[in-house]
Amino acid sequence: MKIAVLTSGGDAPGMNAAIRAVVRQADALKIEVYGVKRGLQGLVDQEWRPLTSRSVSNIIQRGGTILGTARCQAFLLPAVRAQVARDLRDAGVDGLVVIGGDGSFTAAEVLNRETGIPCAGIPGTIDNDLPGTERTLGYDTALNTAVEAIDRVRDTASAHDRLFLVEVMGRSSGMIALNTAIACGAEAVLYPEDEQSSYEVLVEQLRAGWERGKKSSIVVVAEGDQNGGAFHIGERLHQDYGLDLRVVVLGHVQRGGSPTALDRIYGSQWGAEAVNRLAAGETAFYLGIQGGEMVSIPLARVHDQKPAPPKELALLAQVLSR
Ligand code: F6P
Repeated sequence: MKIAVLTSGGDAPGMNAAIRAVVRQADALKIEVYGVKRGLQGLVDQEWRPLTSRSVSNIIQRGGTILGTARCQAFLLPAVRAQVARDLRDAGVDGLVVIGGDGSFTAAEVLNRETGIPCAGIPGTIDNDLPGTERTLGYDTALNTAVEAIDRVRDTASAHDRLFLVEVMGRSSGMIALNTAIACGAEAVLYPEDEQSSYEVLVEQLRAGWERGKKSSIVVVAEGDQNGGAFHIGERLHQDYGLDLRVVVLGHVQRGGSPTALDRIYGSQWGAEAVNRLAAGETAFYLGIQGGEMVSIPLARVHDQKPAPPKELALLAQVLSR
């Protein structure tokens, strides 16, 4: 048997741990592995090479992905996918492991449905927004990076009695924002799934905090928040109230860095399990965690509604910011 592995979409800490586990578990089962460069684009360009246990030495602790990644428009075309399937079959590949987020899984699902290439998914995105799994690779690391950064901001915020707006990643997901806000004791949080969130509510929350004697405040803003992002909100607050505030955009800092132990462990478990299941003939699935147990989820479930941050957590963040 021969399988190919690729990382696709936004990179996430823990992807290297998953690649390593795919290669070494395959080695243990005498399965050959091809590493595909630059995600789906590398499939289109037939840019792949054999990976051995030695070629994945010393990568478990590294962020990013040794295979590289890309967002690939060409894969949207059915003719391109059909050609990819022919190329994979010609190369003797009879299984594909895709490490990525919803866009990558959508591509894998279509490829599998149209061509029958057996596909396995490993959830790799810092956004933690895939249906059916409580965790995705990279989320724990990104969360801890954001928390550490905001703890530092908190020091200077309280030294100057200042308001800070800190923007975290999440174009369409508030998981990082809300959980960072809880962990940092933020005074307010804005994120895309919160229908109640508005500029006026934020102003009220800040005012209530100041009336309770707070001198400094931190507002966590998700990148995709509907109120326009940290810079826009900051400008508005400055114009309306003359506040001497500061804006920090954490951006891609959250995507890099050495994965936490948890992300290395998930990457290792999912990588090995994906190989075991492909070898046993399972196809069109992705792996996840539910109630602490590893689960296999039908790939088609990637089209389900994305999990939103729990409303109780939003309430808790508000109560604890008193
Ligand atoms: O999906 C992961 C993610 O980091 C999102 O949180 C963010 O909105 C997006 O990728 C940024 O993508 P890019 O690196 O292409 O700018």
